[in-house]
Amino acid sequence: MINAMYPGSFDPITNGHLDIIKRASRLYDKLYIAVSDEKSAKHRLFSVNSRVSLATEALSHMNNVEVIKFRGLLVKKCEELNCSVIVRGLRALSDYDYEFKMALMNRTLNNEIITLFMMPHEKYTHVSSSLIKEVSLLGGDMSKYVPKHVQVAIKEKCEK
Ligand code: PNS
Repeated sequence: MINAMYPGSFDPITNGHLDIIKRASRLYDKLYIAVSDEKSAKHRLFSVNSRVSLATEALSHMNNVEVIKFRGLLVKKCEELNCSVIVRGLRALSDYDYEFKMALMNRTLNNEIITLFMMPHEKYTHVSSSLIKEVSLLGGDMSKYVPKHVQVAIKEKCEK
């Protein structure tokens, strides 16, 4: 039985994340989607509980996927939930620097946990939660890149 963890801010979850989750869920018995609840995190559009709810709704049809929130070191959460793999999406070369440092730091902290990088479908390589928020808040249509309920939630935020 191999458990894996896909951590991130998921502010909010996008079709790019869902693409990675679909691919990763085929490889592991259990995949945890770990939504980060960092005290010191930069400004988020959605609270951690809203980010968890949006992700949970998007993934309700996937039996071996569970959405959790976590605070503190990622490797500690992996140890607690018996996850031997950390899944991360790699879109463009620009992701590499950050991901490389994070993967090696996590390996320093626990050499038994493997970071696995996956590429989303190429139609999502330019998509990020930040860009989706920016464009949506300025009135652009992002329906291609997020599930319907996420689009509605972003719209509600824009109207506030
Ligand atoms: O979606 P993001 O913002 O790129 O996700 C970053 C995240 C949450 C995966 C990363 O910041 C993280 O793992 N935070 C938990 C704290 C931790 O373990 N930091 C050391 C990572 S080397």
